[in-house]
Amino acid sequence: MVISSHFSPAAILILILFTTHPNCLSARKILSSDTDTEFIKTSCDATTYPDLCFATFSSYATQIQANPKILAAKSLSVALNTTLSASQSLTDLCKTQGLKPKEEAALHDCVEEMSDSVDEFRRSISEMEESEGKSFAIRMSDVETWVSAALTDEDTCMDGFSENEMDGDVKATVKTTIEKVTQLTSVSLAFVNQYAGSK
Ligand SMILES: *[C@@H]1O[C@H](CO)[C@@H](O)[C@H](O)[C@H]1NC(C)=O
Repeated sequence: MVISSHFSPAAILILILFTTHPNCLSARKILSSDTDTEFIKTSCDATTYPDLCFATFSSYATQIQANPKILAAKSLSVALNTTLSASQSLTDLCKTQGLKPKEEAALHDCVEEMSDSVDEFRRSISEMEESEGKSFAIRMSDVETWVSAALTDEDTCMDGFSENEMDGDVKATVKTTIEKVTQLTSVSLAFVNQYAGSK
């Protein structure tokens, strides 16, 4: 290399790093919150949906740090918000012209099931903040029960569309919407379990 006579070896190394790595800047950004991001990564790897999990929670790394309680609480809040927005989408879908009566009935049931899930997440979030009364073990067992119940509600919603005559656009839309809710609920249940097991 001709330039080598004008630069120190360290400078050359830096030059090579920066010219061969177009994403150097983003790599540096990740490195700066290394341990926080590492905690999210490890926690997400223990869930059924590690990629969705990491994509969802890595942006909260600075807030969560390595605190399993904050991670569990954040995951409940994410699941709640996703359920609320799913419920809104299903309500909008209900207004589509030309729905079959069975589709309309199944959508109506789904909206009710999402409303039950919303209650279960809200109860779970406030229970996590509570410190009086119940023991930690009983409290966490209650939260686990409610988050599991939300998963069941989501399954029940999808079951309403299982008949062959329901195959179509409405079912496909519901499936996409509910799948996201189900996956984030499953991640949240894993984080609640991780926190429950951390003490
Ligand atoms: C959920 O929605 C509420 C109200 O809009 C908001 O304050 C909160 O930050 C949201 N939580 C997450 C994790 O996005």
